[in-house]
Amino acid sequence: MRSLLAIYPGSFDPVTNGHLDLIERAAQLFERLIVAVLQNDGKEPLFTTAERIEMLREATRGWPNVEVDMFGGLLVEYARQKQARVIIRGIRAVSDYEYELQMALMNRKLAPEIETVFLLPAEAYSYLSSRLVKEIARLGGSVHGLVPPIVEQRLRVKVR
Ligand code: PNS
Repeated sequence: MRSLLAIYPGSFDPVTNGHLDLIERAAQLFERLIVAVLQNDGKEPLFTTAERIEMLREATRGWPNVEVDMFGGLLVEYARQKQARVIIRGIRAVSDYEYELQMALMNRKLAPEIETVFLLPAEAYSYLSSRLVKEIARLGGSVHGLVPPIVEQRLRVKVR
């Protein structure tokens, strides 16, 4: 697998330590990894695409084979354009599986040459999600240890 380019797509609004755990695992398996941020400003994310990319770049600085990019439109079209054969997705719990299975099979229908590879994050992150991180920050709770320091700082400013 080391000769392959993989794409790890997501909203990353914002990136959490769970995402970073997955990025580290994928970066060890594949020669190159592109973390691809969905440009979904229409869905009213807390952070703009540019902010999400900036935080991801800062948090992944230590991994030389990891790039951060953005994409719009169909994921498989973006993967084809990058000549990637693999899409990485994380599964935290059984509850993720149904949605991920549906998406992976639909992507396979659209682009049979591209494989979805599921990775499991460390158990410590199995309850962690960007949605909960945002809720905790909005309500004044601590997100220390759940997100990288850059996200902790930016969240503090955002929800002030
Ligand atoms: O972090 P998320 O929000 O779970 O990531 C979802 C994402 C970005 C992987 C998914 O929404 C996606 O691939 N969107 C791009 C549009 C697309 O290709 N839709 C068809 C999926 S079968």
